[in-house]
Amino acid sequence: MSQIKIKVTDIQQLTENIKKFEFVSADGGHLPSWEAGSHIDVEIDEHMRKSYSLANKPGDTERWVTAILREENGGGGSKYMHDKVSVGDELTIAEPPTNHFPLDENAAKHLLIGGGIGITPLLAMGYRLKEMGADYHLHYCTKSKKETAFYDEIVEVFGDGLTFHHDGGDPSQGIKLDDVLGAQEDDQHLYLCGPGGLIAAAREAASHWRDGTVHFELFASAKSDEDKVEDTDGDQPFEVELKVSGKTLSVPADKSILEILWENDVDVMYACEDGWCGNCKVGLLSGKVDHRDEFLDDADRENFMQVCISRAMPGEKLVLDI
Ligand code: FES
Repeated sequence: MSQIKIKVTDIQQLTENIKKFEFVSADGGHLPSWEAGSHIDVEIDEHMRKSYSLANKPGDTERWVTAILREENGGGGSKYMHDKVSVGDELTIAEPPTNHFPLDENAAKHLLIGGGIGITPLLAMGYRLKEMGADYHLHYCTKSKKETAFYDEIVEVFGDGLTFHHDGGDPSQGIKLDDVLGAQEDDQHLYLCGPGGLIAAAREAASHWRDGTVHFELFASAKSDEDKVEDTDGDQPFEVELKVSGKTLSVPADKSILEILWENDVDVMYACEDGWCGNCKVGLLSGKVDHRDEFLDDADRENFMQVCISRAMPGEKLVLDI
Protein backbone atom coordinates (compact mmCIF):
# COMPACT_ATOMS: atom_id res chain seq x y z
CA MET A 1 0.00 0.00 0.00
CA SER A 2 1.44 3.34 -1.01
CA GLN A 3 0.39 6.27 1.12
CA ILE A 4 0.16 9.72 -0.42
CA LYS A 5 0.65 13.02 1.38
CA ILE A 6 -1.58 15.83 0.21
CA LYS A 7 -1.79 19.49 1.21
CA VAL A 8 -4.97 21.52 1.64
CA THR A 9 -4.85 24.58 -0.64
CA ASP A 10 -8.39 25.89 -0.35
CA ILE A 11 -11.50 25.41 1.80
CA GLN A 12 -14.85 26.99 0.96
CA GLN A 13 -18.20 26.84 2.69
CA LEU A 14 -20.60 25.78 -0.08
CA THR A 15 -23.77 25.48 2.01
CA GLU A 16 -24.55 25.68 5.70
CA ASN A 17 -23.17 22.15 6.28
CA ILE A 18 -21.02 21.40 3.24
CA LYS A 19 -17.42 22.48 2.75
CA LYS A 20 -15.37 22.13 -0.39
CA PHE A 21 -11.72 21.09 -0.02
CA GLU A 22 -8.96 21.40 -2.60
CA PHE A 23 -5.74 19.41 -2.33
CA VAL A 24 -2.40 19.26 -4.12
CA SER A 25 0.49 16.85 -3.68
CA ALA A 26 2.40 17.77 -0.52
CA ASP A 27 5.75 17.21 -2.25
CA GLY A 28 4.92 19.59 -5.10
CA GLY A 29 4.76 16.81 -7.71
CA HIS A 30 1.80 15.33 -9.53
CA LEU A 31 -1.05 13.50 -7.86
CA PRO A 32 -1.98 10.03 -9.16
CA SER A 33 -4.44 10.06 -12.05
CA TRP A 34 -8.03 9.00 -11.46
CA GLU A 35 -11.35 8.32 -13.18
CA ALA A 36 -14.88 9.62 -12.69
CA GLY A 37 -16.51 7.93 -9.67
CA SER A 38 -13.22 7.56 -7.73
CA HIS A 39 -12.82 8.32 -4.06
CA ILE A 40 -9.89 8.92 -1.74
CA ASP A 41 -9.55 7.46 1.75
CA VAL A 42 -8.34 10.15 4.15
CA GLU A 43 -6.66 8.85 7.30
CA ILE A 44 -8.43 10.74 10.09
CA ASP A 45 -6.56 8.92 12.85
CA GLU A 46 -4.82 5.62 13.51
CA HIS A 47 -8.09 3.67 13.27
CA MET A 48 -10.33 5.77 11.09
CA ARG A 49 -10.32 6.38 7.38
CA LYS A 50 -13.04 8.31 5.64
CA SER A 51 -13.87 8.01 1.96
CA TYR A 52 -14.55 11.16 -0.04
CA SER A 53 -15.44 11.16 -3.74
CA LEU A 54 -13.50 13.40 -6.09
CA ALA A 55 -15.61 16.06 -7.78
CA ASN A 56 -13.36 17.88 -10.25
CA LYS A 57 -12.38 16.96 -13.80
CA PRO A 58 -11.27 13.32 -13.86
CA GLY A 59 -7.62 12.80 -14.64
CA ASP A 60 -6.60 16.14 -13.08
CA THR A 61 -3.24 15.39 -11.46
CA GLU A 62 -2.60 18.99 -10.36
CA ARG A 63 -5.39 19.12 -7.79
CA TRP A 64 -8.20 17.10 -6.28
CA VAL A 65 -11.51 18.56 -5.13
CA THR A 66 -14.02 17.02 -2.78
CA ALA A 67 -16.91 18.22 -0.65
CA ILE A 68 -17.81 17.02 2.82
CA LEU A 69 -21.07 17.21 4.72
CA ARG A 70 -20.62 17.93 8.43
CA GLU A 71 -22.46 15.15 10.25
CA GLU A 72 -23.51 15.98 13.78
CA ASN A 73 -24.16 12.30 14.60
CA GLY A 74 -21.48 10.70 12.46
CA GLY A 75 -18.34 8.85 13.51
CA GLY A 76 -16.30 12.06 13.81
CA GLY A 77 -14.52 12.13 10.44
CA SER A 78 -16.58 14.92 8.94
CA LYS A 79 -16.38 17.00 12.13
CA TYR A 80 -12.61 16.59 12.08
CA MET A 81 -12.43 17.72 8.45
CA HIS A 82 -14.75 20.70 9.07
CA ASP A 83 -13.45 21.84 12.43
CA LYS A 84 -9.77 20.90 12.59
CA VAL A 85 -8.41 20.98 9.06
CA SER A 86 -7.10 24.30 7.71
CA VAL A 87 -5.46 25.54 4.52
CA GLY A 88 -1.80 24.48 4.55
CA ASP A 89 -2.40 21.29 6.55
CA GLU A 90 -1.08 17.99 5.27
CA LEU A 91 -3.23 14.86 5.21
CA THR A 92 -2.44 11.23 4.47
CA ILE A 93 -4.30 9.26 1.82
CA ALA A 94 -4.18 5.51 2.27
CA GLU A 95 -3.64 4.67 -1.40
CA PRO A 96 -4.20 6.15 -4.86
CA PRO A 97 -7.85 6.97 -5.68
CA THR A 98 -9.99 3.85 -6.04
CA ASN A 99 -13.14 3.52 -8.09
CA HIS A 100 -16.12 1.38 -7.07
CA PHE A 101 -18.53 3.53 -9.06
CA PRO A 102 -17.20 3.75 -12.62
CA LEU A 103 -18.99 5.10 -15.68
CA ASP A 104 -19.77 2.63 -18.43
CA GLU A 105 -18.28 4.74 -21.18
CA ASN A 106 -19.60 2.41 -23.90
CA ALA A 107 -23.25 3.10 -23.00
CA ALA A 108 -25.27 5.20 -25.45
CA LYS A 109 -27.05 7.29 -22.77
CA HIS A 110 -26.39 8.15 -19.14
CA LEU A 111 -28.97 9.15 -16.54
CA LEU A 112 -27.61 10.43 -13.22
CA ILE A 113 -29.64 10.94 -10.04
CA GLY A 114 -28.03 12.53 -7.01
CA GLY A 115 -29.16 13.65 -3.58
CA GLY A 116 -27.37 16.11 -1.27
CA ILE A 117 -23.65 15.42 -0.84
CA GLY A 118 -24.03 12.54 -3.34
CA ILE A 119 -23.33 15.10 -6.07
CA THR A 120 -19.54 14.74 -5.67
CA PRO A 121 -18.87 11.68 -7.90
CA LEU A 122 -21.71 12.69 -10.25
CA LEU A 123 -20.10 16.08 -10.89
CA ALA A 124 -16.86 14.34 -11.90
CA MET A 125 -18.93 12.04 -14.14
CA GLY A 126 -20.51 15.13 -15.71
CA TYR A 127 -17.07 16.53 -16.59
CA ARG A 128 -16.12 13.24 -18.24
CA LEU A 129 -19.40 12.83 -20.11
CA LYS A 130 -19.15 16.40 -21.40
CA GLU A 131 -15.60 15.75 -22.55
CA MET A 132 -16.79 12.59 -24.36
CA GLY A 133 -19.67 14.44 -26.04
CA ALA A 134 -22.01 11.85 -24.50
CA ASP A 135 -25.79 11.93 -24.11
CA TYR A 136 -26.36 12.57 -20.38
CA HIS A 137 -28.82 14.11 -17.92
CA LEU A 138 -28.58 14.81 -14.19
CA HIS A 139 -31.48 14.97 -11.76
CA TYR A 140 -30.18 16.60 -8.59
CA CYS A 141 -32.28 16.55 -5.42
CA THR A 142 -31.72 19.04 -2.60
CA LYS A 143 -33.88 21.02 -0.20
CA SER A 144 -33.41 24.40 -1.88
CA LYS A 145 -31.11 26.32 -4.19
CA LYS A 146 -29.33 27.70 -1.12
CA GLU A 147 -28.56 24.17 0.04
CA THR A 148 -27.28 23.04 -3.34
CA ALA A 149 -23.52 22.58 -3.34
CA PHE A 150 -21.62 23.42 -6.57
CA TYR A 151 -24.75 25.07 -8.06
CA ASP A 152 -23.00 27.22 -10.70
CA GLU A 153 -20.51 24.51 -11.61
CA ILE A 154 -23.30 21.96 -12.05
CA VAL A 155 -25.16 24.33 -14.39
CA GLU A 156 -21.98 24.85 -16.41
CA VAL A 157 -21.11 21.14 -16.66
CA PHE A 158 -24.57 19.70 -17.29
CA GLY A 159 -26.08 22.58 -19.30
CA ASP A 160 -29.38 21.51 -20.84
CA GLY A 161 -29.01 17.99 -19.41
CA LEU A 162 -30.02 19.07 -15.92
CA THR A 163 -33.09 19.11 -13.70
CA PHE A 164 -33.00 20.38 -10.12
CA HIS A 165 -35.55 19.02 -7.66
CA HIS A 166 -35.87 21.23 -4.55
CA ASP A 167 -38.29 19.60 -2.11
CA GLY A 168 -38.10 22.09 0.78
CA GLY A 169 -37.37 19.17 3.12
CA ASP A 170 -40.48 17.18 2.12
CA PRO A 171 -39.52 14.21 -0.11
CA SER A 172 -43.13 13.94 -1.35
CA GLN A 173 -42.53 17.29 -3.12
CA GLY A 174 -39.32 16.03 -4.71
CA ILE A 175 -38.36 13.95 -7.73
CA LYS A 176 -41.05 11.70 -9.20
CA LEU A 177 -38.94 8.59 -9.63
CA ASP A 178 -41.60 6.53 -11.38
CA ASP A 179 -41.83 9.19 -14.09
CA VAL A 180 -38.08 9.65 -14.45
CA LEU A 181 -37.27 5.93 -14.44
CA GLY A 182 -40.45 4.54 -15.99
CA ALA A 183 -39.01 3.76 -19.41
CA GLN A 184 -35.41 2.74 -19.99
CA GLU A 185 -34.10 3.92 -23.33
CA ASP A 186 -31.90 1.72 -25.53
CA ASP A 187 -28.47 1.15 -23.96
CA GLN A 188 -29.16 3.69 -21.22
CA HIS A 189 -27.31 3.38 -17.89
CA LEU A 190 -28.34 4.83 -14.53
CA TYR A 191 -26.01 6.16 -11.81
CA LEU A 192 -27.37 6.86 -8.32
CA CYS A 193 -25.58 8.54 -5.44
CA GLY A 194 -27.01 9.99 -2.26
CA PRO A 195 -28.87 9.09 0.91
CA GLY A 196 -30.02 5.51 1.53
CA GLY A 197 -33.72 6.40 1.17
CA LEU A 198 -33.25 7.96 -2.27
CA ILE A 199 -31.06 5.09 -3.51
CA ALA A 200 -33.52 2.46 -2.27
CA ALA A 201 -36.50 4.24 -3.84
CA ALA A 202 -34.67 4.80 -7.14
CA ARG A 203 -33.52 1.17 -7.32
CA GLU A 204 -37.08 0.07 -6.71
CA ALA A 205 -38.39 2.40 -9.43
CA ALA A 206 -35.68 1.07 -11.79
CA SER A 207 -36.20 -2.59 -10.90
CA HIS A 208 -37.33 -3.29 -14.48
CA TRP A 209 -34.10 -1.82 -15.96
CA ARG A 210 -31.83 -4.35 -17.62
CA ASP A 211 -29.25 -6.18 -15.50
CA GLY A 212 -25.95 -4.38 -15.19
CA THR A 213 -27.32 -0.96 -16.16
CA VAL A 214 -28.06 0.43 -12.68
CA HIS A 215 -25.01 1.62 -10.72
CA PHE A 216 -25.12 3.18 -7.29
CA GLU A 217 -23.02 4.43 -4.41
CA LEU A 218 -24.57 4.94 -1.01
CA PHE A 219 -23.45 7.90 1.03
CA ALA A 220 -23.48 6.84 4.66
CA SER A 221 -23.22 10.50 5.57
CA ALA A 222 -26.78 11.04 4.51
CA LYS A 223 -28.24 8.02 6.23
CA SER A 224 -30.93 8.94 8.70
CA ASP A 225 -31.06 7.88 12.33
CA GLU A 226 -34.31 6.04 11.57
CA ASP A 227 -32.49 3.97 8.94
CA LYS A 228 -29.89 3.01 11.54
CA VAL A 229 -32.49 1.88 14.08
CA GLU A 230 -34.28 -0.15 11.43
CA ASP A 231 -31.08 -1.95 10.50
CA THR A 232 -30.67 -3.45 13.97
CA ASP A 233 -34.27 -4.62 14.25
CA GLY A 234 -34.48 -8.30 15.07
CA ASP A 235 -30.70 -8.76 15.35
CA GLN A 236 -29.41 -11.39 17.76
CA PRO A 237 -26.26 -11.65 19.85
CA PHE A 238 -23.54 -14.02 18.70
CA GLU A 239 -19.87 -14.87 19.29
CA VAL A 240 -16.80 -14.20 17.18
CA GLU A 241 -13.53 -16.05 17.66
CA LEU A 242 -10.44 -14.18 16.51
CA LYS A 243 -7.93 -16.79 15.37
CA VAL A 244 -4.86 -14.54 15.22
CA SER A 245 -5.32 -12.63 18.47
CA GLY A 246 -6.72 -15.66 20.30
CA LYS A 247 -9.80 -13.83 21.67
CA THR A 248 -13.44 -14.85 21.73
CA LEU A 249 -15.83 -11.90 21.92
CA SER A 250 -19.57 -11.55 22.39
CA VAL A 251 -21.40 -9.26 19.98
CA PRO A 252 -24.68 -8.01 21.47
CA ALA A 253 -27.78 -7.45 19.35
CA ASP A 254 -27.37 -3.67 19.31
CA LYS A 255 -23.68 -3.50 18.35
CA SER A 256 -21.64 -4.35 15.26
CA ILE A 257 -18.62 -6.63 15.21
CA LEU A 258 -16.55 -3.54 14.40
CA GLU A 259 -17.69 -1.75 17.57
CA ILE A 260 -16.81 -4.81 19.67
CA LEU A 261 -13.37 -5.00 18.03
CA TRP A 262 -12.70 -1.35 18.94
CA GLU A 263 -13.81 -1.93 22.51
CA ASN A 264 -11.34 -4.80 22.75
CA ASP A 265 -8.42 -2.95 21.13
CA VAL A 266 -8.42 -5.07 18.00
CA ASP A 267 -7.32 -2.93 15.06
CA VAL A 268 -9.38 -3.09 11.88
CA MET A 269 -9.37 -0.33 9.31
CA TYR A 270 -12.74 1.22 8.48
CA ALA A 271 -14.30 4.19 6.73
CA CYS A 272 -17.96 4.19 5.73
CA GLU A 273 -19.31 1.98 8.57
CA ASP A 274 -22.09 1.14 6.17
CA GLY A 275 -20.89 -1.77 4.09
CA TRP A 276 -19.91 -0.11 0.84
CA CYS A 277 -16.31 1.13 1.02
CA GLY A 278 -14.59 -2.22 1.55
CA ASN A 279 -12.12 -1.03 4.19
CA CYS A 280 -13.25 -3.31 7.03
CA LYS A 281 -12.97 -6.56 5.02
CA VAL A 282 -11.63 -9.44 7.14
CA GLY A 283 -10.95 -13.10 6.43
CA LEU A 284 -13.71 -15.56 7.38
CA LEU A 285 -12.48 -18.98 8.55
CA SER A 286 -15.80 -20.56 9.54
CA GLY A 287 -19.43 -19.82 10.36
CA LYS A 288 -22.39 -18.67 8.27
CA VAL A 289 -22.59 -14.92 7.71
CA ASP A 290 -25.60 -12.70 7.11
CA HIS A 291 -23.85 -10.53 4.50
CA ARG A 292 -25.35 -7.03 4.45
CA ASP A 293 -22.67 -5.13 2.57
CA GLU A 294 -22.72 -3.78 -0.97
CA PHE A 295 -19.02 -4.44 -1.52
CA LEU A 296 -18.24 -8.17 -1.68
CA ASP A 297 -19.32 -10.36 -4.56
CA ASP A 298 -20.62 -13.90 -4.07
CA ALA A 299 -17.18 -15.48 -4.56
CA ASP A 300 -15.58 -13.16 -1.95
CA ARG A 301 -18.36 -13.88 0.50
CA GLU A 302 -17.12 -17.48 0.83
CA ASN A 303 -13.94 -16.25 2.50
CA PHE A 304 -14.46 -12.66 3.66
CA MET A 305 -16.93 -10.41 5.45
CA GLN A 306 -17.40 -6.68 6.18
CA VAL A 307 -17.41 -6.40 9.96
CA CYS A 308 -19.01 -2.95 10.11
CA ILE A 309 -22.38 -4.22 8.99
CA SER A 310 -22.57 -7.99 8.47
CA ARG A 311 -23.44 -10.35 11.29
CA ALA A 312 -23.64 -14.07 12.06
CA MET A 313 -26.68 -16.02 10.88
CA PRO A 314 -28.89 -17.00 13.86
CA GLY A 315 -27.20 -19.59 16.07
CA GLU A 316 -23.84 -19.30 14.24
CA LYS A 317 -20.44 -18.56 15.73
CA LEU A 318 -17.97 -16.83 13.39
CA VAL A 319 -14.24 -17.51 13.29
CA LEU A 320 -12.30 -14.60 11.78
CA ASP A 321 -8.74 -14.40 10.50
CA ILE A 322 -7.65 -11.50 12.70
S1 FES B 1 -16.21 0.36 6.93
FE1 FES B 1 -16.83 0.54 4.86
S2 FES B 1 -17.46 -1.50 4.36
FE2 FES B 1 -17.09 -1.54 6.46
